Amino acid sequence: MILKYIINLNISQEIELTKQKIKKLFGSLKVVGDKSISHRVLLFSSLSTGKSEITNLLESEDVLSTINVLKDLGIQIKKEGKKWIVFGNGTNGFIQPKNALNANNSGTCARLCIGAVGPNPIYCTFIGDKSLSKRPMSRMTNFIEKIGAEVDLTNNDFLPLTIRGTRNSIPLSHKVTKASAQIKSGLIFAALQINGKTTIYEKRKTRDHTELLLDYLKISNKRSKYSKEGQKICISGPQEIKSKNYVVGGDPSSAAFFIVAALIVKESKITLRDVVLNKTRIAYISVLKKMGGKIIVKKTKIRSGEQLGTISVSASSLRGVSIPAKLSPFLIDEYPILAVAASCAKGTTVMKGLKELRFKESDRIKSIYKNLQLFSIDCRALKDNIIITGKENILGSKRIIKTYNDHRIAMSFYILGLVAKKNIKLDDEECIKISYPNFKKDLKKLINN
Ligand code: S3P
Repeated sequence: MILKYIINLNISQEIELTKQKIKKLFGSLKVVGDKSISHRVLLFSSLSTGKSEITNLLESEDVLSTINVLKDLGIQIKKEGKKWIVFGNGTNGFIQPKNALNANNSGTCARLCIGAVGPNPIYCTFIGDKSLSKRPMSRMTNFIEKIGAEVDLTNNDFLPLTIRGTRNSIPLSHKVTKASAQIKSGLIFAALQINGKTTIYEKRKTRDHTELLLDYLKISNKRSKYSKEGQKICISGPQEIKSKNYVVGGDPSSAAFFIVAALIVKESKITLRDVVLNKTRIAYISVLKKMGGKIIVKKTKIRSGEQLGTISVSASSLRGVSIPAKLSPFLIDEYPILAVAASCAKGTTVMKGLKELRFKESDRIKSIYKNLQLFSIDCRALKDNIIITGKENILGSKRIIKTYNDHRIAMSFYILGLVAKKNIKLDDEECIKISYPNFKKDLKKLINN
């Protein structure tokens, strides 16, 4: 029996991966609700007239930030049993908040809500935590200013920021050159409340949950191809959105941690159920398959406009691959865990076009590079590319692994710790609550099977 490590749940400040005999990951699991979809269904319900019920909403800190911001904007939201209930105020229905709107750590909360409040005649201040206050906001507010809102940013780009919205917002054509689903979605939430036709040109297509929800809610919109990799979206507002109920599928980005764990821990065999199989989110599965990963994906049902399915994974010998820059919008949240897979693969993996990783919860190019160095893994960060040469035996590190207060970095290195020979410690586990409060419990379920 091979010595592996599991997580000692009693230690709060430092994660201790203590030696214990565990053979493999085994069994079946339903991962938590999708984070992107959770933010969006809360916003659509708030802009609808009437009551919406949401099942399997992700209850993580990021999503709670959106709930609280919407409550501060006059939306009634409560939990009844396992369901969340939202009483929407209709489009242009936000009311003047009494408090500053706190997005905490969530870029999606901030950018989507900035777009949504823009066409409302209210004055609001957006604030966030230390990490979010270092992330660029002008990429969203520039568009909101063009439609007529007055915006005041800290140092021209950052939180805290104030917005004085206007009911007389202007319907415009917007060119979104950054590959960002947050900007596109913020603009869609604005367009639904503006009198006239808004056109959004997205230079490179990004995750399309907002568009799929437009269709699910039968909101009239036109989408067509734009240039080689882009999309054109037309919406005429203001729209009256009739409330509907939602079921949120499992988060494929959260599933990715268990998928890579099952690939790299010998003899593992797991199945993940009800995972969102949206093509703009599961490109990492194709990458892992190209690396030699034994993964089988089966479609099962459609919920709230999204295809769900089952993902089965068996331990595999991985090999290095080259990941082209054009895939980066579809892999944006999975690079840290792909770096873990690359570290356990034979040969070299090249990840190109990662510039946007610098603007995430931490500078993820730096966070990946620094931590892989602690594991003595050959990693080079050249401009916007990361090059990793994998190792058969991962030794681990006596030094404490830094999470940089970034949930995806924390969970990724947790997984690498499972195959490391020495005990490893992470400096902070609190940040995991941002997207997956039950991550350790769910991992433990698979380990103890
Ligand atoms: C998200 C979009 C992506 C992603 C983030 C969630 C969304 O950010 O990294 O975790 O829900 O729209 P960008 O829009 O900045 O690429």
